Amino acid sequence: MENLDDLKSELVAAVDAAATLGDLEEIRISALGKKGRVTGLMKGLGSLAPEERRDAGQNLNIVKNAVTAALESRRDALADAELDAQLEADRVDVTLPVRPEVEGRLHPISQTIDEIIAIFGEMGFTVAEGPDIEDNFHNFTALNIPPEHPARQMHDTFYLPEQEDGTRKLLRTHTSSVQIRTMQTSEPPLRIIVPGRAYRCDSDMTHTPMFHQVEGLIVDKSVHMGHLKGCIIDFCRSYFESPDVPVRFRPSFFPFTEPSAEVDIGCSRSGGTLKIGAGEDWLEILGCGMVHPKVLEACGIDSSEYQGFAFGMGIERIAMLKYGMPDLRAFFDADMRWLRHYGFASLEVPTLLRGLTP
Ligand code: PHE
Repeated sequence: MENLDDLKSELVAAVDAAATLGDLEEIRISALGKKGRVTGLMKGLGSLAPEERRDAGQNLNIVKNAVTAALESRRDALADAELDAQLEADRVDVTLPVRPEVEGRLHPISQTIDEIIAIFGEMGFTVAEGPDIEDNFHNFTALNIPPEHPARQMHDTFYLPEQEDGTRKLLRTHTSSVQIRTMQTSEPPLRIIVPGRAYRCDSDMTHTPMFHQVEGLIVDKSVHMGHLKGCIIDFCRSYFESPDVPVRFRPSFFPFTEPSAEVDIGCSRSGGTLKIGAGEDWLEILGCGMVHPKVLEACGIDSSEYQGFAFGMGIERIAMLKYGMPDLRAFFDADMRWLRHYGFASLEVPTLLRGLTP
């Protein structure tokens, strides 16, 4: 019988040198498999004299155990290395710059919201949020919108199925519901904007059933209409990146503000193209007013001590005006050609300092 010590060293060395799990398996088969060298020697034991057989058997077992142990530890080491290599290869470095060939673009709505936040952020507003699924109280009642108001009727509001208690939730018809939620949960002074989705059962060239608004709300002891005007005029000039864009306040009505106004910006349509700036025409962009005392009271705010102003603006509308998009419905078609054309580089965060638009 061959020298078992040599055999053991040879096999263990081969195992330790195996470079892959596949190589390792081949070595295992050649040593311990059915036709392997160790197995072959085991089979040969039968032809030996009983004494010799016992010694040789023990020695062979030592070889077999040593090879088995070496196989196991090598298998663990190789499996670890394989996993490490895979993790290394799969690693994503999120700090790397975006590759230009990747198609992702920021949707104009996201870009416009970022611009709005940059402007109002600079004025000291923080961003607040609220649920898209609302109840009558937050969307209507607390906003001084009486039950018989047309906005509550089925053709405007998407209602959800009746609940067990007989009430029905709804999809908020404006972001004004978040005025209520904020006033209920925070103490004045308040200074928030609320970019978010709103829903109305309406669909044509200039309306989609889901659209975006940004609400603004300030509540403090001495805010007045002059602050509201200054705030809106500053916003329009920053947003349209034009220091002399004309801004016009027109008396209007909303149940939740008194007095109320609608705001138009100047534009011209000469030559068939719409241009923002001084011109012969006006375009409505938002509704606003001084928060109605009943609204403050509905939220537990003392209206003899506090007053506020609020505004609500359509985000698609001002995006279309700034970026010259002719069709509202294209916003929600998810057409890659439209996104490639009107989308924005995803890492250019708008700031007033570096410029709002990339
Ligand atoms: N919620 C109103 C709308 O959707 C806009 C608005 C908000 C008006 C706040 C005044 C004050 O039309």
